[in-house]
Amino acid sequence: MRPILTFSALTSFALAALAMASCHPIANETGARFRADGETIAMSGGEGGAANACFACHGLEGQGDGVSVPRLAGLDAGYLQKQMEDYAANVRHHDVMGPIAGWLSHEDRRAVSAYYAAMSPPTVEGPARPVPAIYFQGAPEREVEACVTCHGPTGQGVGPGNPALSGQPAAYTIDQIERWQARERRNDPRGVMTDAVAGLTPSETRAIAAWLETSPTLPAPASDAASASAAATAAARPGASRGERRPDR
Ligand code: HEC
Ligand code: HEC
Repeated sequence: MRPILTFSALTSFALAALAMASCHPIANETGARFRADGETIAMSGGEGGAANACFACHGLEGQGDGVSVPRLAGLDAGYLQKQMEDYAANVRHHDVMGPIAGWLSHEDRRAVSAYYAAMSPPTVEGPARPVPAIYFQGAPEREVEACVTCHGPTGQGVGPGNPALSGQPAAYTIDQIERWQARERRNDPRGVMTDAVAGLTPSETRAIAAWLETSPTLPAPASDAASASAAATAAARPGASRGERRPDR
């Protein structure tokens, strides 16, 4: 009799739990579960093991190391997941992050992205640096686009696809721009970044990166309206419609 009792007790418990769960919005339950899975990956490295534990390099608060490891905290979840997919697919080539992303499943990448996206952005430290005019105006005669269009007036990002840049270490930002100029980072939709920074000089790159490092990490205005208008702006640019697909992808 005992096993049967236990079984029926379990069944009614399960039914009660199911009934309770159905009272809550499914999306929130899923979000919380995803972030919990994401925390496990961030702390353990998932299938890749402890050497791949994200926190070891990106910090317990997802703040980065201030030099070459970027902040993840408060970045858009879709952007973060896209980067993990791109590292795994090697369209964003990186010797360290490629294998780390490769160990994770799509679900793992989504979960760990949700975990970092839900964290508060780190507070920036250090004095404000001179505002680089080129960030706001671009240099049309050299086809340098105004960064503000897609990255916002403080570098807080515009919509889900155009990432926040503020609070990123200057050395990291310089490295990314140089990788686009060298065609080593090839994961920007329609080549928008390749076009935007092709004509940027090294001193302009340094000035932009230095200013972004201590620019306030405001939450990005990730509304549908903001992202739709950013997408429309991006699509309307001459650079965006030119050669939709590059042969190397
Ligand atoms: C051994 C150190 C190390 C570990 C462990 C590590 N990262 Fe990274 N991560 C880096 C470095 C360095 C970069 C910059 C790479 C580049 O220049 O593209 C980076 C970049 C990233 C980026 C790109 C951010 C952006 O703004 O574009 C994401 C996303 C990321 N890591 C997520 C993770 C996740 C998730 C984990 C754990 C599963 C992890 N990283 C583990 C060192 C590490
Ligand atoms: C038309 C829109 C657009 C313009 C203009 C633009 N960007 Fe971007 N930028 C993007 C997108 C989209 C990405 C993310 C690409 C990806 O998915 O990896 C990005 C990514 C970046 C990154 C990498 C962020 C990271 O954490 O890895 C840096 C740095 C950057 N942009 C700097 C600039 C600078 C500097 C300018 C101005 C000279 C500029 N961008 C102009 C759309 C734009």
